[in-house]
Amino acid sequence: MEIRIDYNNMMQAALGEKGISDVEIEAYAKRAKAAFDAVINNRGKGMQGWMELMYNQSDIVREINECALNIRENFDNFVVLGIGGSALGPIAVFQALKHPYFNELTASKRNAPRFYVLDNVDPERMNALFDIIDVKRTMFNVISKSGATSETMSQYLIVDNLLREKLGKEAHRHIIATTDKSKGNLIKLAHTNEYKTFYIPDGVGGRFSEICPVGLLPAAVLGIDIAKLLEGCAKMDKRCSSFDLRHNPALITAVLQSIAMDKGRNISVMMPYADSLKYIADWYCQLWGESLGKAVDKNNNVVNRGQTPTKSLGVTDQHSQIQLYTEGPFDKVITFIEVERFRSKLEIPVRCEDFPDVNFLCGHDMGELLNTELKATKYSLCKAQKMNYSIILPEVNENTLGQLLYLFMMQTAYCGELLEIDTYNQPGVEEGKNATYALFGRKGYETKREELSNAKAPSKEYTA
Ligand code: PA5
Repeated sequence: MEIRIDYNNMMQAALGEKGISDVEIEAYAKRAKAAFDAVINNRGKGMQGWMELMYNQSDIVREINECALNIRENFDNFVVLGIGGSALGPIAVFQALKHPYFNELTASKRNAPRFYVLDNVDPERMNALFDIIDVKRTMFNVISKSGATSETMSQYLIVDNLLREKLGKEAHRHIIATTDKSKGNLIKLAHTNEYKTFYIPDGVGGRFSEICPVGLLPAAVLGIDIAKLLEGCAKMDKRCSSFDLRHNPALITAVLQSIAMDKGRNISVMMPYADSLKYIADWYCQLWGESLGKAVDKNNNVVNRGQTPTKSLGVTDQHSQIQLYTEGPFDKVITFIEVERFRSKLEIPVRCEDFPDVNFLCGHDMGELLNTELKATKYSLCKAQKMNYSIILPEVNENTLGQLLYLFMMQTAYCGELLEIDTYNQPGVEEGKNATYALFGRKGYETKREELSNAKAPSKEYTA
């Protein structure tokens, strides 16, 4: 079951002068080849360790499945503590593959612990979680590549304290640390406290980590077949590893987005037409935004590149955003994610025969209505000459989801090369992290603290 790309609506044939011409794509061939070579030749090297994860994790998959089985049998709740790349993937995969009201199902229907992800330091939300879970029946998975992120470490400290109060010496059996094998504080704490540990391999950055233990452990705990997810990734890897520009799904979409950026389309709207894929859009936004939004290129020239990712949900946001997308500025590319077959059907009953304006809906399936609305939206966007393309999933399952995740990672890698930036760093995120450490008085950040105290104080003139 292969996912497909339909990019007709990016082209002049559909959009007229506002579209992309074949000539423009051909003119990109040399740059596309250079981007392709840079990505493919560095497979598994440097920060491209994620490209090997489908092929080098059979032992770890076995260990994860064993650990997951134990958690399923012995815990009522599984809570991820993490942020950014350490949270968005687990949320996206959970939403895509499990029941939409999973936590409300009975234990026998769930056949897995309830699942929660804490990806903020809002005290109200964290306290609220403690209102509804029994920590003695909960496994906490602390996920942090750096083992230093303030948000995750503060959550960890609160949880660790609570567990010690309630469970004494048994507390450590309720924490699993997923982190770097040697760097950072989390691994040191894990060793000191004897936590079960999974490692984030070298060359796998936060936003590229969903298909390593970061995402695989939570998925396996939920009963998701992680081997099939990885098979899906491998399937897409093959398609994205051949230099056939028009048929390499990641390369052609990266080239199209790049040409679109050249034409001022600086916003990338990710719009799945399926509730199950709603959080894939969140995951994509981090991947695309953090990877491509860079001040300097690889030669240190100031370029301020990137395309602002934003998310939308079909059909819900047709009644919120589509007016803007259709009639607003020519600054967006809309990526639709279309699902051909939904996992359940719901027919609209035949009633209201005397009300033809209601009756026309009757006898149709809800999924049919949803996809018809998608077709109608594509039509109206094309009529308004707005660039859009579709990623089509025959259905949502482990395999197609794996393909989708890998497609986005490869597209990002290729696009980063086309933009000639470092796809894998995040100095903008680090700056904020370091400023927080300094403001909270962390040792070693005295110079940063001084820098912050010398920053210009806000003027009353500009307050209201
Ligand atoms: O993609 C990234 O590297 C970041 O968004 C990180 O995932 C995020 O900052 C969390 O970092 P860490 O996993 O080190 O706690």
